Amino acid sequence: MTNSAYGNCLAGRTALVTGAASGIGRGIAEHMVAAGARVVLADRDPKVTDVALSISGETGNAFGVVFDARNEESIEAAVAQAQALLGRIDTLVTSHGILNEHTLDGMPLSQWNEVLQVDLTSVFLLTRAVLPGMLDRGDGRIINVASQLGQKGGAGMSHYAAAKAGVIAMTKSLAQEVSSRGVLANCIAPGPIDTPMVAGISEDWKVAKRAELPLGRFGQIDEVAPTAVMLASSPFGDIYVGQTLGPNSGDVML
Ligand SMILES: NC(=O)c1ccc[n+]([C@@H]2O[C@H](COP(=O)([O-])OP(=O)(O)OC[C@H]3O[C@@H](n4cnc5c(N)ncnc54)[C@H](O)[C@@H]3O)[C@@H](O)[C@H]2O)c1
Repeated sequence: MTNSAYGNCLAGRTALVTGAASGIGRGIAEHMVAAGARVVLADRDPKVTDVALSISGETGNAFGVVFDARNEESIEAAVAQAQALLGRIDTLVTSHGILNEHTLDGMPLSQWNEVLQVDLTSVFLLTRAVLPGMLDRGDGRIINVASQLGQKGGAGMSHYAAAKAGVIAMTKSLAQEVSSRGVLANCIAPGPIDTPMVAGISEDWKVAKRAELPLGRFGQIDEVAPTAVMLASSPFGDIYVGQTLGPNSGDVML
């Protein structure tokens, strides 16, 4: 990935990308730096600092911050650290998340609560923390990585699907509140993408899932990250408000 691929469309812009130690978040951070942005990568996994170093290369434009999305104080501290490192946060990308499988029948409340906390409540808390600065400047982009399962549901994943549907509905509501004040909020709802998260799902599920996709294959991280660059950039992203964009191999067609 080089600057020329994006024409430096994010030069002078800043972003906080969560879940950036791995998978889609890491890819988005890498593409944003390649597009000229200065980016804070945040994750629970301490390896995020090494990932930031490797993405930064000679640009000096990537920084790592460790935080835990299960904890309100940790979220607020991460946003404060990102603001200090970047001067301001123009774009928030929430790409952290967890996924595990259980039928609704018999699902322990603790399992439901953990997935809702990490995959939905923390997105609200992160958004709430970055909004005041964006509203003061009349300029901001919120890009939440939801899931196609938040649109169509998924057997064995009712907790995850409910959290992601909540992210989509929260983002639409926020868009109605703040777009006239210069802050644009949208979701990316990927289909199955080859990342460590999907590697953890059962092989039976993956075989059946590939067979049902119109494209016949899972997506790659580099096929999702450009959507985030587009939404973060101007003028390319200027007209998207409360949308749910679907790099999803045709799994959901709206
Ligand atoms: N991979 C897919 O097929 C797919 C499809 C649709 C949506 N998504 C969504 O994309 C996002 C990224 O997923 P991925 O596939 O890249 O997964 P991944 O497991 O590779 O990355 C998720 C990252 O989130 C971090 N994380 C988990 N819990 C955290 C916490 N409490 N605090 C801070 N960080 C935490 C992990 O450490 C990890 O680095 C997730 O929101 C996921 O739900 C993924």
